[in-house]
Amino acid sequence: MEHVNLGIVGLGNVGSGTVTILAENARQITEKLGFPLAVKAVCSLDVDQVRLPEALDPVFKTTDWRQVATHPEVDIVAELVGGTTVAAEIITTALSLRKSVVTANKELLALRGAELWELAISSGANLAMEASVAGGIPIHAVLREGISGDRVVALYGILNGTSNYILTEMEKRGDTLEAVLKEAQRMGLAEADPSADVDGYDARSKLALLSALAFGERITPSDIFTEGIRRISPVDFQYAHRLAHTIRLICAARQTPEGLLLSVRPALVPQATILAGVRGAYNAIWVKGAYGEDTFYYGRGAGSRPTGVAVVSDLMRVAREIRRGSPERVSPFAHERLGEYRPLPVTCEKQPYYLRFRVDDRPGIIAALAGILAGKSVSLEAVLQVPCDNKHDLPFVITVEPTTEQSVREAAAEMARLDFLLEPPLVMPLAQPF
Ligand SMILES: NC(=O)c1ccc[n+]([C@@H]2O[C@H](COP(=O)([O-])OP(=O)(O)OC[C@H]3O[C@@H](n4cnc5c(N)ncnc54)[C@H](OP(=O)(O)O)[C@@H]3O)[C@@H](O)[C@H]2O)c1
Repeated sequence: MEHVNLGIVGLGNVGSGTVTILAENARQITEKLGFPLAVKAVCSLDVDQVRLPEALDPVFKTTDWRQVATHPEVDIVAELVGGTTVAAEIITTALSLRKSVVTANKELLALRGAELWELAISSGANLAMEASVAGGIPIHAVLREGISGDRVVALYGILNGTSNYILTEMEKRGDTLEAVLKEAQRMGLAEADPSADVDGYDARSKLALLSALAFGERITPSDIFTEGIRRISPVDFQYAHRLAHTIRLICAARQTPEGLLLSVRPALVPQATILAGVRGAYNAIWVKGAYGEDTFYYGRGAGSRPTGVAVVSDLMRVAREIRRGSPERVSPFAHERLGEYRPLPVTCEKQPYYLRFRVDDRPGIIAALAGILAGKSVSLEAVLQVPCDNKHDLPFVITVEPTTEQSVREAAAEMARLDFLLEPPLVMPLAQPF
């Protein structure tokens, strides 16, 4: 049967994994599809230096993405460049020419995905984005098709492998975040500018995309409350362990009577839960359905080949639709139309909290902090202190009973003005829903 022709733009981590799999696994792919996929054209800025698998030859090589996106023989364009500028041009150019697009671009899809899908529908083309969240975990397929008969009530994820690697190494070795981050940068696990990972922005784009699929709402990433992991220190793991918990950067989306509550933030997670077992650069997503109840998905969240598998699988799905001439496309957002999201402030969240202080020790400290909590009607649950010789930089922890985020924030702001505190208190939810 006749080939379906591919154009690949971007031959970096994901692009190189994609072309390797297309070349090395061609026989399996053809057996599964009943027809072959052929790489017709590739593009990257240094295309002359890139060594492509010989099995792909002959292939047209260019540094100009337009020559791929407008190539008359290319049926599907894979956009594997990233970012929100050139990538958007590649995708809109291809879709406008009725070519389907496969992309791994969470940042662009989280910002403009719904609009791009409408362009795809109006052109009779397809837009597929499995690789955009949690690389090697087929979570889009799960939400779009596998459990689409269910009504998702909550979703919790560890969606950034770099920050999970940093946290779990800090936990294992007792090292500071700065030390582990430097090592991760040397190993190529973290970017020179680590902000997207460490400050939670990468995880935020992924949560926006997954929540759109799970809940059918068009979510702007900046509407999601986001806090990164920079303030976590080794001593927080000591206290978390005393409470039989650990610390993870948790992406949470929960349906409440008032609406959808979204957050990306470090949280204490009970050691007995499955999420606590997610270590290193792995990702996981825990989905709670009204009917099917709990399902859990685990795997590599990034990497050339795991992400390449997601891209190739999307290419196969789209190619099959092209061959079969299927006029009906399933929306990559699992819903025909996305509703408008009304942001709900996390300040209405009610749960127990962990407050960690660093103080210049003196009598009356606990009484002063407890007085502030009482003034906000927050009930103190426990005071914990691990042995420490330095009385001028003494860490200790107070846990409080379930209370609104608003009350705990007001208390923390008032506490931050106390002269014995060396820094504002670190506040984290003692995440209960798990
Ligand atoms: N890395 C992962 O594990 C992973 C996982 C999931 C999703 N993603 C997503 O996948 C996408 C690609 O990520 P990546 O890690 O593969 O990035 P990368 O390694 O930086 O690769 C980007 C590629 O795009 C090419 N490129 C850049 N600007 C271009 C332009 N104007 N015209 C043509 N080609 C251009 C680059 O060429 P040169 O090399 O010649 O500059 C390079 O080949 C991003 O959206 C990312 O968020 C990545």
